[in-house]
Amino acid sequence: MAKQFDVAVIGAGAAGMMCAAVAAQRGKRVVLIDHAAKLAEKIRISGGGRCNFTNINAGPANFLSENPHFCKSALSRYTPQDFLALVKKHRIGYHEKHRGQLFCDDSAEQIIQMLKDECAEGLVTWRMPCQVGSVENTSEGFLVATDTGDILADSLVIATGGLSIPKIGATDFGYRIATQFGLNIIEPRPGLVPLTFDGPSWEAFAPLSGIALEVEVATGSGKGKGAKRGHFREDLLFTHRGLSGPAILQISSYWQPGTPIVLNLLPDMDVAQVLIEGKGTIKKQLGNVLSQWLPVRLAEGLLVANGFEPDARLADMQDAKLRKLGDAINRWAIVPTGSEGYRKAEVTLGGVDTRELSQQSMMANKVPGLYFIGEAVDVTGWLGGYNFQWAWASGVAAGQAV
Ligand code: FDA
Repeated sequence: MAKQFDVAVIGAGAAGMMCAAVAAQRGKRVVLIDHAAKLAEKIRISGGGRCNFTNINAGPANFLSENPHFCKSALSRYTPQDFLALVKKHRIGYHEKHRGQLFCDDSAEQIIQMLKDECAEGLVTWRMPCQVGSVENTSEGFLVATDTGDILADSLVIATGGLSIPKIGATDFGYRIATQFGLNIIEPRPGLVPLTFDGPSWEAFAPLSGIALEVEVATGSGKGKGAKRGHFREDLLFTHRGLSGPAILQISSYWQPGTPIVLNLLPDMDVAQVLIEGKGTIKKQLGNVLSQWLPVRLAEGLLVANGFEPDARLADMQDAKLRKLGDAINRWAIVPTGSEGYRKAEVTLGGVDTRELSQQSMMANKVPGLYFIGEAVDVTGWLGGYNFQWAWASGVAAGQAV
């Protein structure tokens, strides 16, 4: 005999635990199912172990989706301040790090414990670790077959996240269930991910691994379906295989394969103008001039990569050549070969097409009782606490509706 519940939530991550707690505290009989042996690994490793649990400035403009209006309702009904109130209720110390990003003072474990306590307050039933075999929509409700027994539930919430970091349990379960019930999927791809470069044009930069600096980065000529423009001012990091750091993670979500990204390595300076005006007074070699503003190794690497001798004297350079050098620093357009993929991606772009879901409740329009929340849905936030805010907000929206 299948065990009966009002609500079955599959996926006990950020969105699933939030949804289960909210529904259970409304008096619903809720079962929370996860295949992992260890609870909420993604929360545990997030924010370098301190969980950047929200961003006080989070709003719809910080999210990517084929349908940018979809997230507005849930985000406005459960705000960063609402989550902060929960954090304060549980006496978890926190601090703001950078541009509204809120982190735990001590450990991400505190957020996991908080969500567990909220679930306990509503008497949520746990099934974990538990493998889900199949899901069927029957006349008596959703029949979920698992290796710990069948479950029958009036409402089924899918909160199994995206494909990022398969080694800690990410699966395509959410997409498979959506497809089984005839819902469209926006093709998933890695987001917030380091970009890689290979070939001869990158050889001069490969030895610059470890160099970091604040830059502006933008998408280049993004053409084609789904091309979106992004622009960020953040830190850039050179790695052995390419570029990383917050600037690159942010732009990676907007980047389309085959198109360039454009870097401004000295965003507060018109390099060509300063060099041309300085020709009469600056007696130094080019390498020394540039290393006043850029790390020495980067200054030299850029000169070599663009066909300049680092020890050439600034005073001897033609204006046209200095303009070319200025462009190479202020408007460096490069085409990434690829990305580090789901192995390193913090999120998965795409997912269940939001046009299939109610923006109020997250319920599938054509399958009453079936809900999708969190990263499984085609709503992806910027780096900086936005993705958790979406997990909380969409979890609450479904938790209040089931
Ligand atoms: P989440 O991935 O949290 O949970 C999904 C759950 O479903 C998991 O417990 C999984 O085991 C389970 N599951 C999957 N397949 C299943 C199946 N077939 N059967 C049963 N269970 C299944 N965001 C942010 O805002 N601030 C931050 O600091 C960070 N930091 C960060 C660091 C790293 C390294 C990563 C990879 C990601 C982040 N993120 C982040 C992103 C954030 O972690 C992510 O967006 C949310 O965890 C998404 O919440 P969900 O609940 O949707 O999925």
